[in-house]
Amino acid sequence: MTRRHRFRHGDWESAALRLDEIICAHSGEDPFEEALKLLVAKLAHEMEAARTAFLARHRGDGAVGEVNRLLRVAGERWRGMLEPGATTRLSGPELVRCASVLNRVRLFADDLVGLDAIFEFMVSKASKGQKGQYFTPRHVIAEVVAMVRPTAGERVVDPACGSGGFLRHALLQAPQCSVWGFDQDPRVLRVARVMLAASGQAPARLMRVDSLRRPERQLRARLAPVLEDLMRAQEPRFMGFDVVLTNPPFAGDVGCEYADGYELAAGHRVERDVLFLERCVELLKPQGRLAIVLPHNKVGAERWAYLRAWLLEQVAIVAVLGLGRNTFRPHTSQKACVVIGRKRSKPTRHFRNEEVLFFISERDGKDRRGRLAYALNGEAIDHDLAQATPLVRRRFEIMQGGA
Ligand SMILES: C[S@@+](CC[C@H](N)C(=O)[O-])C[C@H]1O[C@@H](n2cnc3c(N)ncnc32)[C@H](O)[C@@H]1O
Repeated sequence: MTRRHRFRHGDWESAALRLDEIICAHSGEDPFEEALKLLVAKLAHEMEAARTAFLARHRGDGAVGEVNRLLRVAGERWRGMLEPGATTRLSGPELVRCASVLNRVRLFADDLVGLDAIFEFMVSKASKGQKGQYFTPRHVIAEVVAMVRPTAGERVVDPACGSGGFLRHALLQAPQCSVWGFDQDPRVLRVARVMLAASGQAPARLMRVDSLRRPERQLRARLAPVLEDLMRAQEPRFMGFDVVLTNPPFAGDVGCEYADGYELAAGHRVERDVLFLERCVELLKPQGRLAIVLPHNKVGAERWAYLRAWLLEQVAIVAVLGLGRNTFRPHTSQKACVVIGRKRSKPTRHFRNEEVLFFISERDGKDRRGRLAYALNGEAIDHDLAQATPLVRRRFEIMQGGA
């Protein structure tokens, strides 16, 4: 028998597990689909009546009716968030039990951190680890976006957008930028739609595609459309993005069908993040800006020296931010870094005198169990990445001046 999970107040992981348990144990319905609808209903409830408890006055069929009403409200308010006519498949008692868990958390609070954390646990529990679907903590995203600073009119993309964290923060930073998100998993795209709609932002264009498939191979093999095809269907003159912000998957072996045509894979066994790095550079316009989360070994290990040499030819590296080991906990303690730079007009080997800012984070905003760590005032997350932000911005400005 599986151990019953005990809910602890303020612990999002625990809330997600408890919801999952109630849905799986009692209804046999798909926990992701039902939890998504329940969370959307709770969001609609918080918009309508933040001070009253969700489903506090409803029992049995009344609870079902109320959730379905809230889903209709959400469907009208946030277009594209739900399938048209979506209704809950849970029974009244199941809904009331789930509501008792959800009533202990406020989804709209703290930059939607809790909602994001619940989704992260819900997204394909079984395939986690294998697919590497760990969302980037919001405080890391906020600082990285502030460093790269998308501006109005710029075309910004995350080709492995997950829950859309980078896209949301790009729109917060520059509401007039044009934001595009791609992911191969339809579930995370729905999460991204909910996250963007819930934060009241202009919708980003979110599309399902395998971002690693490249145009030449597509022509030869007559496969499904690639990212560039989807872009040109919307913007016929599309020639590349101004900004790429991403945390690609690290895990998973790469089959030869992907590696075909990738320079970094020629003669080497590579991981998915290596192909994503090359693909991100390809997707950028000359002078476009890049921020990509990579496993730590890519910036240090001898084995990846050829990758670094390739990257330096293609991109003027502005900064490498070493993230703390707790950053992706509780999902993984793998060390990662963010590589930030600007694509060169043409690849070159004459980069010897360029300075690169190396920043090693000592306060990563999480404790060893992966819970957010707050500063003494209890409000701000306790991390030190903000110290690097003005330095990175300044380096971009100097580069811009010398361009
Ligand atoms: C580590 S998660 C990061 C999500 C997001 N960038 C973030 O930081 O919150 C990686 C995402 O890449 C997606 N992904 C994996 N392989 C992909 C591929 N070939 N094409 C598009 N998306 C892919 C996964 O579905 C997952 O959502």
